[in-house]
Amino acid sequence: METWDAIRARRNVRAYEERPIPAGDLDRILEAARRTPSSMNQQAWGFVAVTERERLRELAGVWRYAAHVATSAATIALVMPASDDRDERETFQYDLGQVTMSIMLAAADLGIGSGHAAVGDQALARRILGLPDDRECAWLVAVGYPADRPLAPIARPDRRAIEDVVHLEDW
Ligand SMILES: Cc1cc2nc3c(=O)[nH]c(=O)nc-3n(C[C@H](O)[C@H](O)[C@H](O)COP(=O)(O)O)c2cc1C
Repeated sequence: METWDAIRARRNVRAYEERPIPAGDLDRILEAARRTPSSMNQQAWGFVAVTERERLRELAGVWRYAAHVATSAATIALVMPASDDRDERETFQYDLGQVTMSIMLAAADLGIGSGHAAVGDQALARRILGLPDDRECAWLVAVGYPADRPLAPIARPDRRAIEDVVHLEDW
């Protein structure tokens, strides 16, 4: 897919086909995550790719709106250092936001759908993922082939009007 098509075709996919993602495609998606820019290039992140069905089902229990993780072909846990420092946390979160979009666009390029999930039960996520005490799971990104319809550019996305959000020269 062209970049512009991938940007327009990406949407949250919350129902996935049973078929797995080819290993090479998952590798490419993870490589896109690794190539993401980060503040001062610190790359403070780590990614846990989960593909075992039973572990995916367990992982779906970390948040009330994470049910789609259970049926995904793979879910990538975005892990950051545990920190009480507000500035540090903001930076880690910003970096992981960019990682999320890298993953989602690389997936869309391959015709693979993706869906965010927050993490409510940090202790459960830590246990399933085997994280050490100095790491926390900030987000989950589920990926898999869409069960509803293939990804295709969306003509009229559910977004505020361009004139409502874009200001030229000043607010
Ligand atoms: C920070 C963030 C957290 C989100 N958390 C969840 C979530 O926990 N569960 C979920 O199903 N979707 C989640 N979403 C997906 C949004 O609901 C979705 O991106 C938004 O409604 C726009 O829809 P689209 O992605 O299909 O364009 C999250 C999105 C973002 C950016």
